[in-house]
Amino acid sequence: MVLQAIKYSRGSLEILDQLRLPHEEIFVQIRNPQDGWNAIKSMQVRGAPAIAIVAALSLAVCLSAPEYPRHDSSYASVADFLSLSLKYLVTSRPTAVNLLDAAKKLERVTRDAQMQSGSTDASVVDAYVDAAEAMLVNDVKDNESIGRCGADWIQQYCGREGSLGKLSVLTHCNTGSLATAGFGTALGVVRSLNARGALRKAFYTETRPYNQGARLTGFELIHDGIDAELITDSMAAALFSLSKESDNIACVVVGADRVAANGDTANKIGTYSLAILAKWHGIKFLVAAPRTTIDLNTRSGADIKIEQRSMQEVTTLKGPQITRASDASLSYGSAVEIGTAAAQSKAWNPSFDVTPAALIDGIITEKGVVEQGGDGAFHFDSLFDSGL
Ligand code: MRU
Repeated sequence: MVLQAIKYSRGSLEILDQLRLPHEEIFVQIRNPQDGWNAIKSMQVRGAPAIAIVAALSLAVCLSAPEYPRHDSSYASVADFLSLSLKYLVTSRPTAVNLLDAAKKLERVTRDAQMQSGSTDASVVDAYVDAAEAMLVNDVKDNESIGRCGADWIQQYCGREGSLGKLSVLTHCNTGSLATAGFGTALGVVRSLNARGALRKAFYTETRPYNQGARLTGFELIHDGIDAELITDSMAAALFSLSKESDNIACVVVGADRVAANGDTANKIGTYSLAILAKWHGIKFLVAAPRTTIDLNTRSGADIKIEQRSMQEVTTLKGPQITRASDASLSYGSAVEIGTAAAQSKAWNPSFDVTPAALIDGIITEKGVVEQGGDGAFHFDSLFDSGL
């Protein structure tokens, strides 16, 4: 069964609460932009494409409610309400560009609808809701295409002799159905390799401090029955250095929160370390992301704002209390928070880091894989040419 983390029908939006995963599968209702903003900020939903889609739909469900917006007189027009709400939603998390990109597109749709002759509140609302719903549908299609393009490239360029056509890959953070509208980007590539019978094993990092890998990627891989093993972030070098051919990692494939115009890529903290380790060991390093993650207005990684999060994410761990029965089976109780650092420790907690383009072998998009140019940078013009 396909994992569905965003349940939407016109007038109703529910998201799988990622703070409760993997031990509890609880859907929470999103009724308006405030709910959307809170869910994104608190990371009930996270992952660049998922954030953008939930933000867009949080406004769509609110507009589809029977009493809205015709009775709200605090805005000059429904287009003003939409515009201000989009600006507000964009403040929830700063690094991922997909949210900003979606907000700009939806703002344009709204203003165009308002300019149409004979436009009414209802026609502006319809235009907005149609565009937001299209984002949900298109993201899944784009991810399936990323999966295909990535698997083709990996099979062509990362195959190793003796691997009997099967490859092991390492991924970081969570980039799957939980981070997107469905299927996933980097995890979509893993899913595609697996569907082709080309995956030996998926290794995935714990992804400290928030454990998106251990909690969420693990949940998805187990859900799909994909052969996978968890490592702590500090084990990657040892894994890469294994000399036994069958255990070798053919490539690392990660997602992205923002790809700058030169290919520098902001992604979950720890991505940069993995790219350096991969380069040292001669392992291909790939970024999988839809074109909406490529930000041609950001010249290089130095211009990307990196979100700082609370130090408690570093000094504590949250999870359910575990009870071990006499037969060694485990049962999970309610969530507890435990301290893992010396009392009063201060901590630095950048949520993302920037991997320089020179460490990236390819950027997998829904329109194909862009490889590093001879100058060490990426050139994305062909991806955005008209007609694509
Ligand atoms: O802080 P998060 O969990 O939102 O960070 C998510 C990541 O860094 C993902 O790798 C990225 O958003 C790509 S998701 C397809």
